[in-house]
Amino acid sequence: MKAIQWPSSLVPLFLAVITLGAFICTRFFDSYAITLMDTNSPQSPVLTPEAVGSTRNLEIAPKAIHIPLNCTLGELSRTCPAIYYPSHVSAEARLHPSSPPPSCPDYFRWIHDDLWPWRETGITRDMVMSARRTANFRLVVVDGKAYVERYKKSYQSRDTLTLWGILQLLRRYPGKLPDLDLMFDCFDWPIISKDDFLAPKHPAPPPLFRYSGNDYSLDIVFPDWSFWGWPEINIKPWEELSKELKEGNTRTQWRDREPYAYWKGNPVTSVSRNELLKCNVSDKQDWNARVYAQDWILEKEQGYKQSDIASQCVHRFKIYIEGSAWSVSNKYILSCDSVTLLVKPLYYDFFMRCLVPLKHYWPIKDEDKCRSIKHAVEWLNDHQEEAEAIGKAGSSFIQDELKMDYVYDYMLHLLSEYAKLLKYKPTVPETASELCSELMACPANGTEKKCMIDTLVGPASTEPCTMPPPYNPASLHSVIERKDDGMKQVDILEREYWISHNKQM
Ligand SMILES: *[C@@H]1O[C@H](CO)[C@@H](O)[C@H](O)[C@H]1NC(C)=O
Ligand SMILES: *[C@@H]1O[C@H](CO)[C@@H](O)[C@H](O)[C@H]1NC(C)=O
Ligand SMILES: *[C@@H]1O[C@H](CO)[C@@H](O)[C@H](O)[C@H]1NC(C)=O
Repeated sequence: MKAIQWPSSLVPLFLAVITLGAFICTRFFDSYAITLMDTNSPQSPVLTPEAVGSTRNLEIAPKAIHIPLNCTLGELSRTCPAIYYPSHVSAEARLHPSSPPPSCPDYFRWIHDDLWPWRETGITRDMVMSARRTANFRLVVVDGKAYVERYKKSYQSRDTLTLWGILQLLRRYPGKLPDLDLMFDCFDWPIISKDDFLAPKHPAPPPLFRYSGNDYSLDIVFPDWSFWGWPEINIKPWEELSKELKEGNTRTQWRDREPYAYWKGNPVTSVSRNELLKCNVSDKQDWNARVYAQDWILEKEQGYKQSDIASQCVHRFKIYIEGSAWSVSNKYILSCDSVTLLVKPLYYDFFMRCLVPLKHYWPIKDEDKCRSIKHAVEWLNDHQEEAEAIGKAGSSFIQDELKMDYVYDYMLHLLSEYAKLLKYKPTVPETASELCSELMACPANGTEKKCMIDTLVGPASTEPCTMPPPYNPASLHSVIERKDDGMKQVDILEREYWISHNKQM
């Protein structure tokens, strides 16, 4: 699968954290001292308004009101427009009142959980500043404008596209985002350890935004850059790519696909991925896995012909396995209509906590991958109706609940809830500078610029979805129990299979 090339210098660091475990977020429970383990382009130098307009108006955001970028201004003075939105925009947006907005998908409920550590103390400026140590940038929003203080460049274009995403959020919901002040770390894995901060008398944890979390950390999870594209490895923005994937699924029906478990990615990013290579088919054994190492340098030379995501949905089963932390490949894998064989992960991103075993995916044991995969593929090939249903449920979740509208709504609700916790009125730091879409997109070039042009949004003509309430202990318990049940069922099936299999041999 189209997975991730982490710099190999990260690998030793990863070894140090690999001993942690568990997939479902138990943070809410932990707060009650219950520990739950083991569940675990076009390269035109100047971006003309016309060029942008033609991309936007047609398909990408038909509902949205179109406001082109004014690159004349950006190129000349490298400043943002004095007025971001023509005054008629908000009135126009209100001309199309939709029926009451839908309730947001369930994964939004984890927003309450992620912000739980500050519910009593609130967030002070000192707390925010204490998160600066590892942050790539600080973002301040005052009166609907974004100001950024950059501390260090992130790996590849992560920071750029994350900031771009936030600027699009501001364009999408003018006037809706409250004033705020936050630190963002673009590195892979969470670092604000629960152990260090949740004990009595310990200082309040630094609120730090990043792309992933685990059950042992307090980092605040935010949608990753890949929703706006991954220029370095030629991955398109999610809006477009998800459509291609949906379309690609119609090419080969599930039953006509290869009856094996497929994975393609960079194996050196984790011990677990390296172990997966041993499950590959050979003269001596067949664990029902077809595993390929991704060579990004070669792919680039060949124009990424071998890595077109939408044409990779030709196997009945696809393996998801973490790299140095969570992998952005999860959404691509899950949207294939194939059954996702999910090797028990340590990390989650903002939506993964809602995935349910046997509903959206089939769980694979990390410590016994080959045998676990062998059994999964055999059982599912023998139970094709169930298998197809799991494949479809995974894809539907991704296509329906992870569409770009919801990604923006998630950002809006998360940032709004975060802003409510601030105990001070954010002001623009002297060292920060205003950032707007013009300043980013006008001087950009190459694939990065294309990613930006293709994801430029205008004000939404619909209201954001309604934030669901937090889980109460009972509803959270049933969510966790449901996950546990799925894991246990698979565990029993696997054990029975291997007992009878070994008897036959
Ligand atoms: C872009 O900005 C410049 C400078 O303010 C202005 O003169 C020009 O009319 C603007 N162009 C558009 C298309 O709005
Ligand atoms: C796995 O096996 C297939 C088929 O023999 C082979 O083409 C592929 O290169 C192997 N993968 C790795 C990572 O060695
Ligand atoms: C694109 O922009 C970057 C940074 O602004 C610059 O380093 C690079 O040389 C540019 N590439 C091209 C092809 O113009």
